[in-house]
Amino acid sequence: MGSDTIEKRGSSTTVSLDKQRYRVLIGTGLLKQIGTHARKRFARKTCAMISDNNVAPLFARRLEKSLVAAGFRPTLITIPADEKSKTLEQVGRICDGMIAAGLDRQSFVIGLGGGVIGDISGFVAAIYHRGIPHIQIPTTLLAMVDSSIGGKTGVNTRDGKNLIGAIHHPALVIDDVDVLKTLPRHEFNQGFAEIIKHAIIADAKMFRALQRWEAGEVPALQRLIKRNIEIKAKIVAKDERDRTGERALLNFGHTVGHAIERAGDYRKFLHGEALSLGIVAACGISIKKAGLSPDQRDSIVNVLRRFQLPTRLPRNFRRKRILEAVKFDKKFEAGKVRFIVTPQIGTAHVSREVTMKDVREAIDGL
Ligand SMILES: NC(=O)c1ccc[n+]([C@@H]2O[C@H](COP(=O)([O-])OP(=O)(O)OC[C@H]3O[C@@H](n4cnc5c(N)ncnc54)[C@H](O)[C@@H]3O)[C@@H](O)[C@H]2O)c1
Ligand SMILES: [Zn+2]
Repeated sequence: MGSDTIEKRGSSTTVSLDKQRYRVLIGTGLLKQIGTHARKRFARKTCAMISDNNVAPLFARRLEKSLVAAGFRPTLITIPADEKSKTLEQVGRICDGMIAAGLDRQSFVIGLGGGVIGDISGFVAAIYHRGIPHIQIPTTLLAMVDSSIGGKTGVNTRDGKNLIGAIHHPALVIDDVDVLKTLPRHEFNQGFAEIIKHAIIADAKMFRALQRWEAGEVPALQRLIKRNIEIKAKIVAKDERDRTGERALLNFGHTVGHAIERAGDYRKFLHGEALSLGIVAACGISIKKAGLSPDQRDSIVNVLRRFQLPTRLPRNFRRKRILEAVKFDKKFEAGKVRFIVTPQIGTAHVSREVTMKDVREAIDGL
């Protein structure tokens, strides 16, 4: 993968992978320009706008107007806003809607929403007529800095999250930061859990910027989003299909984080909140197994708190359930986990030295 580079052009970033490149536009007022951008890429007039019932009333009209003005014929398909909508059943419903609207092999799909919409619309784009282009318009901070980059699409099944899916990179990603104004505060903050994770595994300078972060500065937020896209894209480019272990670095904090989400029946904690706790646990393990200094762990905890992210479990939360969920995790092999540790803020690596006992102690410490 010699040509894996990321170019920067003004307020856009190009994600370059082995066989594919796509642009990520970051700025304000971009929703109104979507028609113009789509016209440069697609000749076919028909497209589907896939969104959820929170996001569609806020932004679908603006998007539709821009597409119609550029000569497109968009069909809006909405699903209920919830992780529970990420199912094969909804995929079938969306595909039926697209067939009814006359979309064909040359049509394209636009996902307008958070990570749920990004994942399901991307999966629909991956399988509809064996694959049609996908434009991502992420509307949560988490989707902008994480789920819209990397090409992982898919749905949940009864037994677990993201068990069915496909790699299908978007043709274009549009990050209009204006849309974040309507995002509830706790949803906004959970995006910062992934941003803090990126800082810990890859960028000590960004970590220092987060220690001084003041809310409300739009240009700074745009730069931050762009930097996070670059970090994720660079890691994905090195290991697009999760084979060399490089991409696994993005799982820092996620072994325990996912287990906490599961133990809370996916209701008690948002993903970013569970991740925040998972990061604290991973720091505890990193002190023991990778030489992270307790001072740096404290700095990480303070940054998480700065974004109102939890760093302690509620006292009565059943920690045993978390451990059971970790065991359930498929990454667990013969008593050892493939666990991501950080020896120092800004770097991370895979450790095979982490035992179940280490994980249990880290969870007990939360
Ligand atoms: N593909 C990947 O690589 C990847 C990576 C990380 C997470 N994910 C997936 O992303 C999903 C989580 O994404 P999420 O956190 O964005 O959740 P989400 O899509 O459920 O959105 C969160 C909530 O905010 C609402 N919302 C979205 N944008 C809004 C806006 N601008 N204003 C007001 N409300 C808005 C939504 O309707 C929803 O209720 C999970 O399904 C996870 O598996 C995928
Ligand atoms: Zn995550």
